[in-house]
Amino acid sequence: MTRESGGSGPDLSTQVGPLELQNPILTASGTFGYGLEFAERADLHRLGGLVTKGLSLEPLAGNPPVRIAETRGGMLNSIGLQNIGVDRFLDDVLPGLVGLPPKVIVNLFGYDQDDYVRLAERVDPHAGVAAVELNVSCPNVSKGGIEFGHDPEILCGLVRRVRSATGKPVVVKLSPNVTEPAALGQAASAGGADILSAVNTFVGMAIDTNARRPVLSTVRGGLSGPAIKPLALRIVWDVAREVDLPVIGIGGVETVDDVLEFLLAGASAVQVGTALFRDPRTAERLVDGLRDRLQTEGVASVRSLVGAAARQE
Ligand code: SIN
Repeated sequence: MTRESGGSGPDLSTQVGPLELQNPILTASGTFGYGLEFAERADLHRLGGLVTKGLSLEPLAGNPPVRIAETRGGMLNSIGLQNIGVDRFLDDVLPGLVGLPPKVIVNLFGYDQDDYVRLAERVDPHAGVAAVELNVSCPNVSKGGIEFGHDPEILCGLVRRVRSATGKPVVVKLSPNVTEPAALGQAASAGGADILSAVNTFVGMAIDTNARRPVLSTVRGGLSGPAIKPLALRIVWDVAREVDLPVIGIGGVETVDDVLEFLLAGASAVQVGTALFRDPRTAERLVDGLRDRLQTEGVASVRSLVGAAARQE
């Protein structure tokens, strides 16, 4: 038993800025719906946190098919932020999540800065929302999102506006598709962000060699899965050292070793994404596996691992 359930095993709880999580394993935006859809396929109680699919002010249909393509060691997606809209989430879904142990983090997407502010204002009164994650890094829409995540000045201004629109902790999800993600992290910090999540997907593409045309309807899509883990890990390492904010690591997390690598690089928690498509129970299996590994190694607390590889240098 872990301390999460009252036992005397390793302490899996972690502090991510203002958020205390029962364990460091969260589900990543866009890979676990709005949470409730998975209630019969996974044990939601066991998660450290759950990040919703990206929500916009109005419902979105997303991009036309084909919008998913499997690659060696990964997956390309070009969903285009299909979602039910923030109001339906708050009215119909959030009540079913309130009271569960995992922290609910609401991922927000806007076409312009006012959208983000209005989204943050809508979410703000809801006690069941633990934090907002700003999606400023979606590579699959032609307007909004990534526009805000690639320019430090614009990002800083956006975060500042959202910061003053909500008392919730603000997480900024960084794009890997820039030369120096840490510089964007610094800009988010200057704007008042509480936490950084790193990273969103890498822009890629695939070609159907029989049809002789790109697989995805949008040509480009976001690459995720094990193929990106070393790239994501390097960015988390840099961001954790160069920005004075806690980091949530994202990118190809599938095994306990992956979780440990991100923690040792400086992440205080991780988000599991693509692996959930194969097994929706991946996150809870990682919780068990992490507990067993720490127990075997005599590690008393997850928190002692955060950034430990950097301290060895
Ligand atoms: C999408 O809906 O296209 C993916 C979301 C993202 O990558 O931020």
